Amino acid sequence: MEIVQNISLKAFNTFGIDVRTQYFTEIESVDDIREALSFANKNQLPYLVIGGGSNILFTQNFQGLIIKNNLKSIEVIHEDQNNYYIKSSAGEVWHQLVLYCIENNYAGIENLSLIPGSVGAAPLQNIGAYGVELKDVFYELEAYHIPTQTIEKFDLNDCAFDYRESIFKTKLKNQYIILNITLQLKKNPQFNIEYGAIKEELEKMNCTSLSVKAISQAVINIRSSKLPNPKEIGNAGSFFKNPIINQEQSGQLKKEFPSIPIYPSKANQFKVAAGWLIEQCGWKGFRKADYGCHAKQALVLVNYGTAKGQEIFDLSTAINESVFEKFGIELECEVNIV
Ligand code: EPU
Repeated sequence: MEIVQNISLKAFNTFGIDVRTQYFTEIESVDDIREALSFANKNQLPYLVIGGGSNILFTQNFQGLIIKNNLKSIEVIHEDQNNYYIKSSAGEVWHQLVLYCIENNYAGIENLSLIPGSVGAAPLQNIGAYGVELKDVFYELEAYHIPTQTIEKFDLNDCAFDYRESIFKTKLKNQYIILNITLQLKKNPQFNIEYGAIKEELEKMNCTSLSVKAISQAVINIRSSKLPNPKEIGNAGSFFKNPIINQEQSGQLKKEFPSIPIYPSKANQFKVAAGWLIEQCGWKGFRKADYGCHAKQALVLVNYGTAKGQEIFDLSTAINESVFEKFGIELECEVNIV
């Protein structure tokens, strides 16, 4: 394992923010993890584990050790009458895992096609798109417990998954490094095309028989049409979560703003489309210097090249203030600010 000094993190975050880190290393085994953590301990350095860097906004240089999780492997570890159990190391690219499953007709994650980021980051924030969340296909994971230096298993209940949430973001924050996850995928697909845009896209594609491949392609088409490709325009997907409100708030908002998109969430809870709130405040397509709000999806903040993390953060604060002023709703960041 090599530890390098004073390098740019531009290539390691999808926002493409050009900050520097004091130290940087890539880990490929549990031994590497132990070595990296002991280096940080010995030198009393803060450290940060990253995957694909697709959910981070760096607002300043990092004084410490960045540990890039590069653990690789994908294997089918078991199958029963109805399911395949696919184990993937945390450092794999999420979409590569999706493509592998689609190629082999393992069903369940086709709706989660083209989500940027690594496999290890997927359980952390329970990634979701087009009516499916990681928790719907999750079987178990293994994680390295930093304080005791042991490897522990977590099943679905242990992870306490919720909308873009897990126990690793709340109660157990910063205590574990995800090593691998195991997905339970179906032999007989149960297609989920309830999310309106998927049906429309399948019709556009003249799709006559449903398959995991067709749904994946539909999702790829939809995402490509409105979400900027981080290789071309720096971004981290949705910058904010869709806020959760109760029935009373939903009723009041609908009265005042009849066209507001509100969807039922869990029991007695509703989700408001944050992209709509931001668009209504006039931010969609906003650009100043090299930072802005995407013209096709207002929930996505972008770096056109040389934006500073702080500029994007300040924009997010201004957006949040105007949404609060107009709707009385406070937006919560989905992206981690470092
Ligand atoms: N909308 C607008 N203006 C906009 C954007 C959205 O009016 O600029 C309204 C429209 O009414 C639209 C509705 O918002 O029908 C929902 O928009 P969209 O389908 O694009 O989804 P979203 O709620 O904005 C969420 C996830 C995305 C995920 C999509 C599809 C969150 C925070 N975001 O976005 O996830 O891909 O649904 O399932 O829940 C991500 O987490 O990084 C991400 C991209």
